[in-house]
Amino acid sequence: MNFKIVTLPGDGIGPDIVTEAVKVLDKVGEVYGHTFTYDEQMMGGVAIDHKGSSLPQETIDACLQSDAVLLGAVGGPKWDNLPNGDRPEKGLLGIRGALKLFANLRPAVLYPQLKHASPLKEEIIGDSLDILIVRELTSGIYFGEKQKVVCEEDDSKTFASDLEKYTVAEIERITRVGFDAAMKRSKKVCVVDKANVLESSRLWRVVVNRVAKDYPEVEYSFMYVDNAAMQLVVNPKQFDVIVTSNIFGDILSDEASIITGSIGMLASASLGEGSLGLYEPSHGSAPDIAGQNKANPIATILSAAMMLRYSLNLEKEAVAIEKAVMSALDAGYRTGDIMSAGMKQVGTKEMGELIVNAIQ
Ligand code: NAI
Ligand code: MG
Repeated sequence: MNFKIVTLPGDGIGPDIVTEAVKVLDKVGEVYGHTFTYDEQMMGGVAIDHKGSSLPQETIDACLQSDAVLLGAVGGPKWDNLPNGDRPEKGLLGIRGALKLFANLRPAVLYPQLKHASPLKEEIIGDSLDILIVRELTSGIYFGEKQKVVCEEDDSKTFASDLEKYTVAEIERITRVGFDAAMKRSKKVCVVDKANVLESSRLWRVVVNRVAKDYPEVEYSFMYVDNAAMQLVVNPKQFDVIVTSNIFGDILSDEASIITGSIGMLASASLGEGSLGLYEPSHGSAPDIAGQNKANPIATILSAAMMLRYSLNLEKEAVAIEKAVMSALDAGYRTGDIMSAGMKQVGTKEMGELIVNAIQ
């Protein structure tokens, strides 16, 4: 098959790591008989420099006409205080909005080869860990009505409020993304909410119970968010897919990611109604190591694997990438960020090459 992929290398280490992910995709294409056609576009700081906007219209148009979008990272001190108020991160929020991406998938995977890097004890994490957090991305308290009312006579009565609001349609579509993802994994979902106090959470439960009827094979449960925060560190292995609201997902995905101990390994996907999705590493543009062949390309390469799984429906090709990453780690190769005693340190390009050569 032929697939059209827009690449948005962006800033800092973005171009370094996207180059390696493209090499890996090309090898997958060669081995499995697919053609990936790339359309490189500008977004973020590089777009501000060359096109005068963090998100040029031509970039949006190209993404809308593609099968999937692979992004490196955006941002850097150079663009922090522009007189016109534009910022590289505005491009990122803008493209998510333009592509109507409402679901953010963040896997927290701890590889057995890197378990020493986890802050958790070995009795708790065992040999490895693999949790997928599905976070609602475009609604809830971050987007609900905001208000600030200043009381001139008595400042103690000044107040501000943010509204946690979800419609049935919004809950239903994120629930489906979570249950669909679970069908490709261990068929287990935990919906995290605060239904003991929040009316919106009680609506989530009603809708989830209804949607779940369409997925008789999926075993699902509910958990209050305060307990979930605790359970993630005392017994993370009980989780497979976690489905949750925007704010709870923001917090829990950061907590889960740190359990894995290595920012250079964490992929992510943002999905909408159709198959078009945006795939990017969870880390930023790491300007401190940009262009020095030091960045770990694995988070981006694993994001490309997610792209094959969720947008292009190429499950065995996705698994081939994940196995190739495993094999490079098994052989003892490490970039600087995941380096430990007795291992062989390599740069961005070498790690990319090792993974390319391990694709079967
Ligand atoms: P960062 O994630 O870029 O870097 C944090 C630390 O981790 C740095 O020491 C960096 O060298 C290291 N690091 C990150 N990715 C790595 C990799 N693949 N391999 C090896 N080491 C890696 O976060 P920071 O420093 O807070 O932000 C830098 C810039 O990135 C800022 O302009 C920020 O706004 C932007 N940013 C962009 C994001 C995105 O594009 N999605 C997300 C987060 C930050
Ligand atoms: Mg966050």
